[in-house]
Amino acid sequence: MTVRRLLPADAEAYRALMLEGYTRHPDAFTSTAAEREALPLSWWQKRLDASPTADQVVFGAFEGDALVGAAGLQFQAREKARHKADLFGMYVAPSARGGGHGQKLVDVLLDEAAAREGVRIVQLTVTEGNAAAQTLYERCGFKPFGVEPYAVALGDAYLSKVHMWCAVAALD
Ligand SMILES: CC(C)(COP(=O)(O)OP(=O)(O)OC[C@H]1O[C@@H](n2cnc3c(N)ncnc32)[C@H](O)[C@@H]1OP(=O)(O)O)[C@@H](O)C(=O)NCCC(=O)NCCS
Repeated sequence: MTVRRLLPADAEAYRALMLEGYTRHPDAFTSTAAEREALPLSWWQKRLDASPTADQVVFGAFEGDALVGAAGLQFQAREKARHKADLFGMYVAPSARGGGHGQKLVDVLLDEAAAREGVRIVQLTVTEGNAAAQTLYERCGFKPFGVEPYAVALGDAYLSKVHMWCAVAALD
């Protein structure tokens, strides 16, 4: 298993992996496969901007040359929120699950956040009841701090989102 930052050249593989994720797990992601499928490849390439000051970074987990997992960090731009980053788009393909890819991706993103000037906190949301994901995040150091009811509408149902946070640098 290797984990590395994804670059614009990885955009097609990243797009295919995430569209699979949105399709298989509509309860886990706020974006729909249809919304994301409609976006041009340039949108995915921009998300993988390789610059050291990019406002988003995405890491991928590979088995050989095959991209089997991914997760990203969104750094906040506004001066009063620059101490926070958001973890997004965590997905590991079913055939690769249970092998530690998810944990490695979270660990690498926490290191990346800690290395970014001024970032002290990483936040994320996870659908209430997604035990595999919430357990993974807790094992990596995240703590829940609230539940947002009616956070996502899925067909006729509403799903709640658990908000979690993890400090990556001293807070005082
Ligand atoms: C959540 C996800 C990323 C985990 O990826 P992964 O590569 O399997 O993660 P890891 O192998 O590092 O760890 C998985 C752990 O979850 C545990 N787990 C799996 N299913 C579980 C469940 N239903 N309840 C509790 N724990 C569970 C495994 O036992 C494993 O822990 P262990 O190492 O102690 O055995 C993957 O399941 C996934 O992509 N799910 C669908 C999309 C999703 O939910 N994304 C999260 C959006 S917030």
